[in-house]
Amino acid sequence: MNSSQSLIVVGLQWGDEGKGKIVDVLSEKFDIVVRFQGGSNAGHTVIIGDKTYKFRIMPTGVVRGKKVVIGNGVVVDPVVLLEEIEALKSAGIDIDLLISDRAHLITPYQIQLDDLMETAKGNQKLGTTKRGIGPTYSDKVSRVGVRFCDFVHHKSKQWLTLESSSKSQIEKIHGIKVENSDATLFDSFSSNVRKLLPYVGDCGEYLESKFNTGSRVLFEGAQGALLDIDHGTYPFVTSSNCVSAAASTGTGVSFNRLNSVLGICKAYMTRVGTGPFPTELNDEVGKRMQNQGREFGTVTGRPRRCGWLDLVALKYAIRLNGCRYLAITKVDVLSGINPLKVCVEYDIDGIETRSYPASAELLSDATPVYDKLEGWSEINMISPKSKGFSNLPHQLRNYLNFIEEITGSQIAMVSVGPDRADTLLVPDVQI
Ligand code: GDP
Ligand code: IMO
Ligand code: MG
Repeated sequence: MNSSQSLIVVGLQWGDEGKGKIVDVLSEKFDIVVRFQGGSNAGHTVIIGDKTYKFRIMPTGVVRGKKVVIGNGVVVDPVVLLEEIEALKSAGIDIDLLISDRAHLITPYQIQLDDLMETAKGNQKLGTTKRGIGPTYSDKVSRVGVRFCDFVHHKSKQWLTLESSSKSQIEKIHGIKVENSDATLFDSFSSNVRKLLPYVGDCGEYLESKFNTGSRVLFEGAQGALLDIDHGTYPFVTSSNCVSAAASTGTGVSFNRLNSVLGICKAYMTRVGTGPFPTELNDEVGKRMQNQGREFGTVTGRPRRCGWLDLVALKYAIRLNGCRYLAITKVDVLSGINPLKVCVEYDIDGIETRSYPASAELLSDATPVYDKLEGWSEINMISPKSKGFSNLPHQLRNYLNFIEEITGSQIAMVSVGPDRADTLLVPDVQI
């Protein structure tokens, strides 16, 4: 891969592909790391030796002392962001942060409503992270949201008296009187927002100036293509676009500036929350993946559902994102499972297809058609860098080649463990 000025890194499955880890490795060679969508539903883990960092809103480049930017497409819970800033400061990490003045804020109303809506859905619930993501994006689109710029210009006690859509739904649909008076809420909420104002500015203008002076910019996606509001397994999705195109709308940077996309894919599939999952394994192999891979949600601690790699879904996600390059993570977790199965086609009502259906109902009727591949017994986890790519077990190299053949994308990185050091960069691929 030729070094380009910008790189968008996105998840290709249902999130938790290892974006935090891969962005951390890549960000060494970039000047600025930018989040462009999602909010504190994200949980991105970075492990460096005996230190573990879990990021919710803060771009992971912060651990390398990079400039970090939170774009307008992100929905920001000020309480969570302040906690992250405090934790980083006490860990001795310097923070050079810009938050878009156009980013929407998650208020306590929206968090409460997320919870109430989930409870009201009963067994139809989506299994959201209950961080107020859906209601905040809904209020944004309904044009009753509250943004950082409202606080910069001091005009806006108005947003509370406007009866935000979330607040009126809590009261009128769910019949619950909101606990605090508007004034109390406004005081505590706005005092938190005010603490963040020194970081607030025009994100698009800033990034444009940095592009003009030659800075390298890395865009860090959250969630994954199959959770995308338009292209994912609707309605079992999040409320933002998570595909690479959102890096433009979510920052105010023209798509002309964005020239390279790297997609991250686990060597198997996981999903938190409800929704169709054709290759899910409710057996010992699935349990083994869950235990070996420590598949428990970073944000909610919920066990992640596990299953075989789905190449129908992966090809779809690669097309949506325009990924020329892939990073395959967690290959170590499959060690010792033999044979390995990989889904290459779906059988839906007797018809074989390689198209990803729009309807979640249809997807839940899909029976995976599998190819079997030979597994590998062990990956030597000690100093994989010195071992090199060509020293990986030949069965694993076959597995990776198979992914490349079916998808037509090139694997640029292979992750063989959670630590920053457990990462192989494929030779001759320059990121
Ligand atoms: P993200 O949301 O895409 O950033 O992923 P998460 O951080 O939520 O979840 C990925 C989990 O897998 C984290 O606990 C990582 O530390 C861990 N991880 C990442 N890459 C690897 C890998 O190659 N092998 C193993 N065993 N764990 C990994
Ligand atoms: P990262 O960035 C995995 C899932 C939730 C739920 C659905 C909607 O760490 O990969 P939401 O709270 O967004 O309204 O929930 O989306 N979800 C994620 N699953 N990783 C994530 O983020 C997720 N963010 C949201 O579990 O099914
Ligand atoms: Mg995560």
